[in-house]
Amino acid sequence: MLDKPAIGAPIGMLCELTHRCPLQCPYCSNPVELERPAGELTTGEWRDVLAQAAALGVLQIHLSGGEPTLRRDLEEIIKAAADAGLYTNLITAGVHVDRARLKALLDAGLDHVQLSLQGTDAATADRIAGMQGGFERKMAFAQAVAEEGVPLTVNAVMHRQNLAQLPEMLEIALKFKAHRIEVAHVQYYGWALKNRAALMPTRRQMDKATEQVTEARERLKGRLQIDYVVPDYYASRPKPCMGGWGRSFLNVTPVGDVLPCHAAQTIPGLTFDNVRDTPLKEIWETSSAFETYRGTGWMKAPCRTCPEREKDWGGCRCQALMMTGDAANADPVCARSPFHHLMEDTAAGESERHDDTFIPRRFARSDA
Ligand code: FES
Repeated sequence: MLDKPAIGAPIGMLCELTHRCPLQCPYCSNPVELERPAGELTTGEWRDVLAQAAALGVLQIHLSGGEPTLRRDLEEIIKAAADAGLYTNLITAGVHVDRARLKALLDAGLDHVQLSLQGTDAATADRIAGMQGGFERKMAFAQAVAEEGVPLTVNAVMHRQNLAQLPEMLEIALKFKAHRIEVAHVQYYGWALKNRAALMPTRRQMDKATEQVTEARERLKGRLQIDYVVPDYYASRPKPCMGGWGRSFLNVTPVGDVLPCHAAQTIPGLTFDNVRDTPLKEIWETSSAFETYRGTGWMKAPCRTCPEREKDWGGCRCQALMMTGDAANADPVCARSPFHHLMEDTAAGESERHDDTFIPRRFARSDA
């Protein structure tokens, strides 16, 4: 039992290069308080962090944002990662990358592209993303990616207002030769929480989506890998969020704070070390933010004696905090949690509302 676990190497690192973004998605996963460009890590600082990550054992980095392609030095950052032997995945909205830029990123060593889709037609996608013409640009980017033969994952972010487009999402993935699609229901942290009532799918929608995915997996076997996770509010077993806190993943913010998960700053009382002051290895192995929920020693009932505790690691700390007020509680997705009814009641209440108005995410002009 891992009451005091041995600390292995992290496998993956999310590099949030900037919080700037041309889209205004209502489920933005960046913190409610965005970092300003003036504080962003420099090219040289990222180069150093990437070398440290490789030495620590990281294998893959995910270059994210905001929109990472807004960094003019993205080619240099990718080259530094490639030189350090890291596999690079670019997570992008694809609206600001023309063919020449894509080629430059590939020349620098980019290995893989992950493209987000908000909808399957311009009217839906542009309304959700809050960017006129965004869908058309995205499709042009996907075409360029397919023609360049770059490994592609489509990230289909699903919710009540676009779940009916799931079959077309799969068609788009096939059209652009994606090898994988993540059918990702919105996770309700940060900004998404503000829009939960406008985005929560109904039980009927969710069941239909599950049927469609099951059918498509059979039909498209060998052509398209479909990753699908039931939305948390309709589940009864928690996901091992981040593969367990501080077990295989770390997240570096635009200003260099190192987090166990992208939403960890929502948990009061945690303090985060910064790569500008502390070596990455030291942060990974000893930072109090990583140590607080590592292993199983921090768990309370019912997790503490649960036979599944080293499989699901108690689920998601951020969700436990949000729904129960204590990040050390079991994730209320778990049917054994005394708070589980909150998830079902919330989903049932919010999904049947007929108001689809949401609050768009905006990167304030003064910050851009
Ligand atoms: Fe923070 Fe799940 S998002 S632990």
